Amino acid sequence: MASHLADVWFSATDLHVVSGEGCTVTTEDGTRYLDFTSGIAVTSTGHCHPKVVAAIQEQAALFIHAQVNCYRHPLLEPLGKRLAEITPVGIDTFFFSNSGAEATEAAVKLAKQVTGRPNVIVFAGSFHGRTHQTMAMTTSKHAYRAGHAPLPSGVFVAPFPCPLHEGVSEEESVARALDATNQLLLSQTAPAETAAMVIEPILGEGGYLPAPASFLRGLKEICDRHGILFVADEVQTGFARSGTMFAIEQSGVVPDVIVMAKGIASGFPISAIGASAELMGQWPKGSHGGTYGGNPIGCAAALATIDVLTEYGFLENVNARGEQLRTGLRAIGQEHPVIGDVRGPGLMVGVEFIDPVGGARDPERVGKVISHARETGHLLLMNAGTYGNVVRFMPPLIVSEVEIETSLEIMRAALEATS
Ligand SMILES: Cc1ncc(COP(=O)(O)O)c(C=O)c1O
Repeated sequence: MASHLADVWFSATDLHVVSGEGCTVTTEDGTRYLDFTSGIAVTSTGHCHPKVVAAIQEQAALFIHAQVNCYRHPLLEPLGKRLAEITPVGIDTFFFSNSGAEATEAAVKLAKQVTGRPNVIVFAGSFHGRTHQTMAMTTSKHAYRAGHAPLPSGVFVAPFPCPLHEGVSEEESVARALDATNQLLLSQTAPAETAAMVIEPILGEGGYLPAPASFLRGLKEICDRHGILFVADEVQTGFARSGTMFAIEQSGVVPDVIVMAKGIASGFPISAIGASAELMGQWPKGSHGGTYGGNPIGCAAALATIDVLTEYGFLENVNARGEQLRTGLRAIGQEHPVIGDVRGPGLMVGVEFIDPVGGARDPERVGKVISHARETGHLLLMNAGTYGNVVRFMPPLIVSEVEIETSLEIMRAALEATS
């Protein structure tokens, strides 16, 4: 049958799914798969969490679209209040949009308006989205940019520390990266022309690579010295994925702006940026907006999601399951030295594959392992990284001990079969 769908979407699998529940998805032929992709780190509460479904159903009967420029609906303020409770201290005012890219665009527009400066600094290996501005800010793979030139100007790229591949200590790697950022400000984008630094506290698409806390703190110092806004892109890391509500908390840095999407509403498309009331108050009225931002069903889904994420013991489960996963993967790595690194906090775990002789990155093995896990073990995984040599584990945050154990058995079998 001829397809009526654009062929532009890359497909990680050829599965056709008809339903999802908890950590599993079911295909047309009734096969169940353990979904450790979470639809790219989105279904934090699992597929179709009953509380999220109920909130969506209830809201759909009241209002599907209550456009913010026309009137205000009753869930906007409660969602702002709830976000203020869970985001870093000082962030208490929010703007809503629909996707991660759109929220990142909003953060850049806010920074430009507030500082009156034109440029932004981003970090090598980052992914910020697929709109023109966010493409210009994305350097995780050229596939996201190729063929789309000219991209917006005013984006400068500083290094992201990676001690493993630089072959130096973390301290040395951080010192080099901070030095390079300072050099960028001396040579390419003057502080008086730099509105913001935008960073993922843990590179997502770029390979599940955490930024050392000392690097984030060093950047914040540079930002504060020059009146540059520190923007944390927590689209993939946010909403408990990293074992704390937001990954930036683990560094002690309070960002000026935080960008949120994905896990915010268990899959309903809503995104947000947060900043202090003082900062948001400087965003000229009418200079930004959008038809669907703050959609009532999105707000209902987000409120229900946050209720689940803040239930007693939720974060403890994320951390315990993450520990179980990392320990198990490291044990497999002892038997299979193709595993060069197991990293990432909470349930944002990356497994880097290398050639044990010489340490070259091994994307080919990653492809084989992911295919074997899917076809034989019915476990869904995705890759990450500029070289595609990282398997990322991003299960729903409600994942059970048994499900983690099952995934480890499937991984072991995949490694044995592909050795
Ligand atoms: C860190 C980060 N920022 C921004 C985005 C873009 O989000 P969206 O695909 O919702 O536009 C993504 C998506 O993967 C992301 O991981």
